[in-house]
Amino acid sequence: MKNPFTEIPESYKISSLLNQESYLASGELKKWDGKTSEVYSTISSTKTYKPTLLGTVPDLEEKEAMEALNSALNAYEKGQGLWPTMKVVDRIACMEKFVTKMKTKREEVVKLLMWEIGKNLPDSEKEFDRTVDYINDTIEAYKQIDRDSAKFEKSDGVYAHIRRGPLGVVLCLGPYNYPLNETFTLLIPALIMGNTVVFKPAKHGVLLISPLLEAFQSSFPKGVVNVIYGRGRVLATPIMQSGKIDVLALIGNSKSANALQSQHPKGNRLRMVLGLEAKNPAIVLPDADLDLAVNECIAGTLSFNGQRCTALKVLYVHESIVDEFNKRFSAKVDALKFGNPWEGGVKLTPLPEVDKPAYIQELIDDAKSKGAKILNKKGGEVTENFIFPAVLYPVNKEMRVYKEEQFGPVVPVMSFSDIEEPLDDMAESNYGQQVSLFGKNINTLAPLIDTLVNLVCRVNLNSSCQRGPDVYPFTGRKDSAYGTLSVHDALRSFSIRTFVASKDNEYNKAILNELLEKKISNFISTDYIL
Ligand code: G3H
Repeated sequence: MKNPFTEIPESYKISSLLNQESYLASGELKKWDGKTSEVYSTISSTKTYKPTLLGTVPDLEEKEAMEALNSALNAYEKGQGLWPTMKVVDRIACMEKFVTKMKTKREEVVKLLMWEIGKNLPDSEKEFDRTVDYINDTIEAYKQIDRDSAKFEKSDGVYAHIRRGPLGVVLCLGPYNYPLNETFTLLIPALIMGNTVVFKPAKHGVLLISPLLEAFQSSFPKGVVNVIYGRGRVLATPIMQSGKIDVLALIGNSKSANALQSQHPKGNRLRMVLGLEAKNPAIVLPDADLDLAVNECIAGTLSFNGQRCTALKVLYVHESIVDEFNKRFSAKVDALKFGNPWEGGVKLTPLPEVDKPAYIQELIDDAKSKGAKILNKKGGEVTENFIFPAVLYPVNKEMRVYKEEQFGPVVPVMSFSDIEEPLDDMAESNYGQQVSLFGKNINTLAPLIDTLVNLVCRVNLNSSCQRGPDVYPFTGRKDSAYGTLSVHDALRSFSIRTFVASKDNEYNKAILNELLEKKISNFISTDYIL
């Protein structure tokens, strides 16, 4: 297989380097004169393969990490800050200003998504647009939460005015596969609920935050959003060790989440909102519509080269149909077009992690040494930045590809004779995000669905696994998640119910009436936000 070099369209060429020379703290884009890190794309700009230099980012140190933390703490100001005490409508206005500015940066961000993480053009555009929609939906959901709480309740002679309030300072860390979307599904609800944030972009997909820095700086009050660049160990560790973080918001893997959580000196004070790894299976029953199952499994296993937490990472196919399934599935895999992200019709694209092709090769070699075969002709072919997806069969539980979350282009297939086999495996697994179930007969499906909903958090009937639509709960059991992230649930995850209570007597009633009439409290309000 060849490095997929074709002439790069003029608008996507890297004509100048993007050197990010500042970071955002205390409301200022602070110039950084220290060490920087070069950001490379694994995509070549020349016919002879060579990674492309895209620019540089600051390699900040502990001092700047603490500066950003202090900036967020000052903006929160022990709950007295402008942002956490601001009227809901005013916080919403800041968010609307931000999203308006963000929309003007679509082209730049989409181009960087393609170069930095190799996501194809339609999916990069979708990532941007979906994020804008997510922000608008979050604003609407927050209005509804506010409307629902714009009232007083009375029980046992006590009035209560109950709302959701912020938690404090949030450390926000996103993943490289959705460096914009998934990061913002944490950042945006955290902010709008009145928290202040220290945000460190992912290791790949870091430059694409640059076009948005000015929008962050000018849309929110000083210190509410702080953006720092550098290594997680250098920056996040001292921030956590300070004990001053109230929420760890992370989409990534459980190892990093556990390591960061354990740095916090007071575990009980730390709320966690985590989206972690998964090993979602597909179960294909004997009566499944085979073409439908094959197509959904192609999308499920190989969209964005399998680099999705929701990707199908192991296929269980009933022994009576496994040969036919494998034949059709392998042919479809080989028909997927590999190329650079801007090329029409590409489904497979260069991998952003330099070491990933070698890692996938190790999984293939290990599986082969334990009895699996590569079923498709192109499976395992390599270029400098890619390895063509291998369909491996028969896979067993001794193989690394069964045990590890591959997060890349390789597809393990197992056959089963008794449905208890995949169910037992799922029960034993460390993960519990989603499953795809292919079949038709309701007498078989019903008991299976009743069990599967208790092993994972979403059963996809005759379709691949996915996070969206974003209004639905996105969560998982065991090592796959902590907390729930739908548009609505995320607002709850980043806030706590807090209320004003008063005994029902003339003295208190007069005070409450005056508070409502004069509208001088931002918390006590029965205004309906339109
Ligand atoms: O990496 C995991 C993402 O949450 C997957 O989202 O299902 O929309 O690709 P998606």
